[in-house]
Amino acid sequence: MSEEKPKATCGKKIDRRDFLQGLAGVPVLGAFALAALKQESYRRSRKAQAVASGAAQGGAADLNVALLGVGAQGDVLLNSMLKIPGLRFRAVCDIWSEYNLRRAANLLKKYGHEVNSYEDYRDMLDKETGLDAVIIATPDFWHAEHTVACLQAGLHVYCEKEMSNTLEGARRMVQAARATGKLLQIGHQRRSNPRYIFTHDVLLRELNLLGRMVTAGGQWNRSAAPDLGWPKKYEIPAGRLRQYGFNSMHQFTNWRWYKNLGGGPIVDLGSHQIDVFSWFLGVNPKSVMASGGTDYYDPATHEWYDTVLAIYEYETPRGTVRAHYKTQTTNGSLGYYEQFMGDQGTLVLSESSQIGAVYREKTRAGSWDEWVRKGYLGEPKIIETRADDTARDSLDVRETISPDEHKIALSFFDPYHKPHLENFFNAVRGHATLNCPAQTGYESAVAVLKVNEAVEAKRTLYFTPEEFHV
Ligand SMILES: NC(=O)c1ccc[n+]([C@@H]2O[C@H](COP(=O)([O-])OP(=O)(O)OC[C@H]3O[C@@H](n4cnc5c(N)ncnc54)[C@H](O)[C@@H]3O)[C@@H](O)[C@H]2O)c1
Repeated sequence: MSEEKPKATCGKKIDRRDFLQGLAGVPVLGAFALAALKQESYRRSRKAQAVASGAAQGGAADLNVALLGVGAQGDVLLNSMLKIPGLRFRAVCDIWSEYNLRRAANLLKKYGHEVNSYEDYRDMLDKETGLDAVIIATPDFWHAEHTVACLQAGLHVYCEKEMSNTLEGARRMVQAARATGKLLQIGHQRRSNPRYIFTHDVLLRELNLLGRMVTAGGQWNRSAAPDLGWPKKYEIPAGRLRQYGFNSMHQFTNWRWYKNLGGGPIVDLGSHQIDVFSWFLGVNPKSVMASGGTDYYDPATHEWYDTVLAIYEYETPRGTVRAHYKTQTTNGSLGYYEQFMGDQGTLVLSESSQIGAVYREKTRAGSWDEWVRKGYLGEPKIIETRADDTARDSLDVRETISPDEHKIALSFFDPYHKPHLENFFNAVRGHATLNCPAQTGYESAVAVLKVNEAVEAKRTLYFTPEEFHV
């Protein structure tokens, strides 16, 4: 089964009518209401949870799954997977055997899954028979070794982003997926998020709501925070830490900040959203320039930059698009979102369910009432303007803010990672194609890892089309 697909499409080409019918369970033709859409979506997610908990308590399971790395994100994925029917957990592996490993095994036991626990993934692959898939959520610098070994052991792999902290590692992962014919899904979960798919397929592609796109933007801001600690009584002995590539407990829990282990906030956080730039614009970037540094934290323990501003250029079939992106770890204002701006409107979208709206350009001829009536957009919220703000002449008209805000008329109530995991398991069953296969994850890694290079080079760096192919 091929794991690859073109960058700018979802695994399954979603026809608007199929998509909405499938998601909402109500006919598109005829006046379906926004409220009905939401209620139906909610009902379906509750029903899926009920089915899943039934399966977890001994219902038929057709896939045998192992977990490799059960820290913060492994825990999030596990909690999502416990809501997915048809999975039987067989093994868990984590080097923090007295803490994370034990916690995950205990949780699984509570849900009726008796799992074997391993500290070393090689033992797990040697001893476990009958596994179908492995979910990998170890630190980035382990992804290539873990993924390649699991693929070569005949297992399908869901590996968290960033695919790898090096392009060499990411390349080996693509090659191993191709050579073994096993599936490799990379954890850019927005690619399976119904709101993102609806926005991309329907609002941007089909309705062309934004018109000619000219700029994009995005940010992931976080408040200043102390480094991660650990319970002293569960410290990992220094020898075991070294064996797995960490020189201290501080480095073990704060691996993201260290060169050779992670890629810093721009890779950790930015990778999700820079991936969305390429997906929504339909092309990979042509160039990137960036400024960044460790301006706030101690550079001895924060080797990667705490603040990064990057500017990409994209050459789309409709013309140049410039995109700015920022990660800041000292002020969480406005959180995380992406923004796309065209001559007809603006889109602001986030994985966070509170953010997701389009803003009509004041100069655009005609309203979006039809899309409101058909249930694609929420009712407009009129943005109040003072008399002083309103236009006096034609130039001002073009400068004033959009007259109305329409929420994107699609909510989903599942945990954020669940649809991407479901897509993976459905692909393993042969019922779907992956939404973020190895080649797509690789293209994203090429785009995002270059930001750190651009910060160091202090100049614009250019991508060649060949760079994006393995
Ligand atoms: N998709 C997302 O939204 C998202 C969110 C957070 C993290 N992530 C990704 O998930 C991965 C894990 O991040 P995290 O926040 O859970 O980190 P973490 O430090 O909390 O957890 C990592 C776990 O891996 C274990 N581990 C380390 N080396 C190991 C090895 N060689 N073998 C087995 N276990 C090992 C650790 O003991 C720990 O339990 C990273 O790649 C991160 O980028 C993705």
